[in-house]
Amino acid sequence: MSEALLPVEPGRQRLLRLDSAVILKRFLYLERAVIVAAAAWIPAVRRLETKALLSRSAWEDAETAKALRNRIFELRYPDRTLELGSERPLVALFDAALDAPGPTDLLVAFAEVLLPAQRTAYEDYLELSDDIADGPTRRFLEVSVKEKALRERALRDASEHELGATSEWVANLKDRLDELLGVSLEPPSYTDTGPRITGGRPFGLAQEAARDPRYFLTPFYWPDALDPDYPYGEGMLLQLRSAVSHLNEVWAVETAAAVLHAFQRELGWDFLFDAARWLYDESRHMTMGARRLAFWGFEPGQIPLGSYIYQACRDQDPIYRLAMLSFFESKNIGKKKVRAAAFGGLGDRTSQRDMDFDWADEAIHAGYGRRWLRTALEVRGQDPESWPGLVSRCESLVSERVARATEPERRACMEGAAALLARAEEIVLSSSGSAARTASP
Ligand SMILES: [Fe+2]
Ligand SMILES: [Fe+2]
Repeated sequence: MSEALLPVEPGRQRLLRLDSAVILKRFLYLERAVIVAAAAWIPAVRRLETKALLSRSAWEDAETAKALRNRIFELRYPDRTLELGSERPLVALFDAALDAPGPTDLLVAFAEVLLPAQRTAYEDYLELSDDIADGPTRRFLEVSVKEKALRERALRDASEHELGATSEWVANLKDRLDELLGVSLEPPSYTDTGPRITGGRPFGLAQEAARDPRYFLTPFYWPDALDPDYPYGEGMLLQLRSAVSHLNEVWAVETAAAVLHAFQRELGWDFLFDAARWLYDESRHMTMGARRLAFWGFEPGQIPLGSYIYQACRDQDPIYRLAMLSFFESKNIGKKKVRAAAFGGLGDRTSQRDMDFDWADEAIHAGYGRRWLRTALEVRGQDPESWPGLVSRCESLVSERVARATEPERRACMEGAAALLARAEEIVLSSSGSAARTASP
């Protein structure tokens, strides 16, 4: 009688706590690989929408990675180690996405190989796990499955707008993943990391950011970069300058992307999560500008899209990019509240709302900047309080780029702004004309 047992409920006996933690650890490292590759390629893709898509990709996956890491710690308490074991070859394969030969390959590899493999593995996990035992994991994996499915389609569409056809590297990546039996829930049976994926190219950050050719491309997007006395403006000028400024936060998107890639190993997981949010926020600011300008009726070809701040850090130690992002992007934080109020006074609710949310983001970013610039110095064995030296070097780098402005660059900047202002006058006239027509009986 003592051997008699109550029966086991079918379907609830699978995936014990530690088995789950091992699988989630595999998922965590694969997420890190796709977060880093998405960010690292942002300066090299041309379209603003693609830069925004990759920024969102990095952030969504970073949210999943953060939840995975916390959950692994919960399941393995009190063990907080995250050492890789037999999954090393699989992680190495995902890490190799960084070495895509070009932006189209990267986008297609994400859309057709890497994200589907992750999503299918998450679906398998959801199939095998139990809502009562492991509900906290299931919730964030369900979200990630939806996010990745949507993103796979968006990335495929984006790949059609980048330069260059897909090379055989994507097929080689897929073959290698098939050899490793994909992202499985089973413990991997392979041991060697395998050959390099042929057709790839060792990654190097794009030192000249690719630009969306539909815009009016000019290194200096507004005359005040060249002439400090050029007024910021009020009323319609303020609306316009602020939208152009938001759009041109493209440099902050690219800089956040570059620092995420450059410092994630040195500074660890918490930096990775903050940098992904920082990146996503800057891409939202850029998109705010693009949307307002499009709504007002400006054609992209009339809108100046600059590059001088990113260019100023060309071939510099990435710590200067971190300093640039930390201090240059949030130095106007005080003005943002004032401008949000000014837009409120003008009745421009959209500009007001964008500026208001931007202000809240900048308050977070100021904290990121203070924390990570100091930590980056500390990790390098330098005085964490020596950061003002980095900031003044950044100021010099920008001044040097401005000093190198050629006559055609200056002219393009001045003419671009003048043409945009003239177009704005036309839009204001035609909208006040149509408002008058609507009002008249
Ligand atoms: Fe920003
Ligand atoms: Fe910012």
